[in-house]
Parts: sequence; C-alpha cells; structure tokens
Amino acid sequence: MTQATARAYPNIALVKYWGKANEDLILPAAGSMSMTLDDFATTTTVTLDETDSFSLNGAEQGEAGASRVIAFLDLVRNFARTAGLDTADQNARVVSVNEGPTAAGMASSASGFAALAVAASSAYGLELSIRDLSRLARRGSGSASRSLVDRFAVWHAGDDQSSYAEEIPAPDMAMIAVPVATGQKAVSSRKGMVATATTSPFYPAWVTSTEEILKEMIGACKDSDFTLVGEIAETHAMRMHAVIAASRPSIRYLSPTSLEVFDRIAQLRADGIETYGTADAGPNVFAITRPEHAEVVSERLRDLTKDGEAKVLRPGRGAHLVGDDAL
Ligand code: ADP
Ligand code: DP6
Ligand code: CO
Repeated sequence: MTQATARAYPNIALVKYWGKANEDLILPAAGSMSMTLDDFATTTTVTLDETDSFSLNGAEQGEAGASRVIAFLDLVRNFARTAGLDTADQNARVVSVNEGPTAAGMASSASGFAALAVAASSAYGLELSIRDLSRLARRGSGSASRSLVDRFAVWHAGDDQSSYAEEIPAPDMAMIAVPVATGQKAVSSRKGMVATATTSPFYPAWVTSTEEILKEMIGACKDSDFTLVGEIAETHAMRMHAVIAASRPSIRYLSPTSLEVFDRIAQLRADGIETYGTADAGPNVFAITRPEHAEVVSERLRDLTKDGEAKVLRPGRGAHLVGDDAL
C-alpha cells in the first residue's frame, strides 16, 4: 500500500502529562489518564512521493511547520528499514485536516500524531499492533499515545518498550467543550514543559504527586466512582496550572474567562448538578459530568464560550484507518 488515510480524535487528560523523563524518546516523567473524544477529528492521508511535504488545514507548511512531521516520517522509515521493507527509502506527502482548533490547548497534537502514526505506518507497509502504534504515536507527541485507545486510556511511564497507552474501564461520563479562545497558544506544550521542569521549584512535587494521584484515579475508575474521578481530575488540572505558573519567567495558559468557567462549574455543583472542570495547556475548559446532565451543563456554560456553542462530547474511538484501507 502506498497511500493510507486515518482518523483520530483528541483526548483530554483527567490525570495530566506535563514533563518528560526523556526528550528524544518522549518518555513521560509520570503516567497519565484520559478520555478519547468523539468529535474534533483529525483526518490525515499519507502518500508515498518523490519529496517530503506537509499540508495542514489546506496550508502548505514550510520547513519550520513541517519539521516535526518530517522527523516523524524519518522514524517510520527507520522502522520500515529494520523490517526490510523497500518503501524505507521513499519520501511522503502528508495532508491533514483538524476539525478542532490547532495548538490551542484542545489536543491537536494528540489527534494529529495519532492519525499520522496510523496512516504513515500503513502507507509504508508496517503492520503494527495497537500497542506499537501507541508507542510510535508517542514519539510524535506524548499525548498522542493515548489517542490510539478507545474511550479511556492510561499511558504508562516507563522505557521505550513499556511506555504505551491502554484502555481502562471508567464510569460513563460526558465532557462539554467550552472554547473561550482558539488562537494559537504563546508557548507550545513542548516548550512549556521544559520551562516548568527546569525552572519551577514545585516540579519534583508535581511528578511524585502525579504518580500517587494516578493510582487513586485508576482505583476510582475501577470502582466506577464518578465523584472521585471528577474531584481528582479538577484538582490535578489546577495543580498542573500551578506548577506551570511557578516557572521563571511565569507561564500562564488560563485566561480570566477560563477562571469564570471554573467558577460557573462550582456553581453548577452547588446547584446539585455534579460537574467538574479541567483544562490542558491553553485557555479552553472541558467540563466533566454525568451523561444525563450533559445538556443542561452545556446550556449553563454556553454564554462563556467564544461562539455561543458548548459541544457535548462522549467517549470516542481510538485512531483507525478509514476508506478502502480500513477493509
Ligand atoms: P495542542 O494543545 O493543540 O496539542 P501543542 O502545542 O501540543 O498544542 O501542539 C501543537 C502542534 O502539534 C502544532 O504546532 C503542530 O506541530 C502539531 N500538529 C497539530 N495538528 C497536527 C496534525 N494534524 N498533524 C501533524 N501535526 C499536528
Ligand atoms: C497539558 O503531548 O502536547 O495536554 O509530548 O511535547 O508533544 P509533547 O506535548 P503534548 O502535551 C500535552 C500536555 C497536556 C496534558 C495531557 O494531555 O496529558
Ligand atoms: Co498537545
């Protein structure tokens, strides 16, 4: 096969990944846990070609915009070489479209590299298990390892072999996307993490407490304890933004409107509609609630969004081939 198309969805972490143990292999300093979404898909087509090129959302990318994707193709070619495939010497054209905002804290790097891992490995003729696809996607963007997985995922800290994501059972829930600003963030996740790890005095405590909280989260998921899952998720998100803010110079991803959303979520709880909040490295907030409350929560948060729309999201599918390739 010389061409393949894949689709992947972003995932939103309930226990966050923020910091690497190994920058080259993208090994996380601690494990994390997430829900794969069922909206804001990335669709990526990889076609073997004379040269490497990358088009994102209809815009041809120059050297800077394409470098991460080309480095990823090099990795796939290395695997193809090891597997003895004669595709290993070929270049590729990558065409990708994100239905959600790019580089705005809504996990475009997760859906982007998960889709690319599935499409590129297929175009180059590699036959990889979901586990190996998760390990491969991890090398593009750490959070992408989790978008290979259906519904809820734990991404293990470990070495190159053992650091992959796999599905875990969790209480049924919905997320409500509350986009407050969808422009590109000033500091990418990649750079923000390095700044935090090297300058934030709270970073060691962040890493050890994340390991502890992940264990607690896995237990809460096993027990199907929605309340505990929600409490842990909101606390852990706030801890991440705190450790980031303590960097020097300080980095802040949340905006005043993001904080208003967290206040509104607390108000919903006070009104008996159990809802919790989380936010990745950006100002956009995701509310977590029981499925039966999703519509009312969306209604109560809508006026704080950029365009008056707060989409209800449900647990979604891991990255997969689409079209003829999926047969
Ligand atoms: P986000 O919060 O959206 O994940 P990041 O800072 O983690 O933001 O990553 C944004 C980067 O991810 C982009 O600058 C780009 O390099 C990469 N990216 C986003 N979408 C895609 C895609 N569809 N295919 C390949 N790479 C992508
Ligand atoms: C705040 O996976 O985007 O969304 O591995 O450098 O590509 P790189 O970073 P990325 O970081 C995600 C950070 C986060 C939390 C999370 O998704 O767990
Ligand atoms: Co990202």
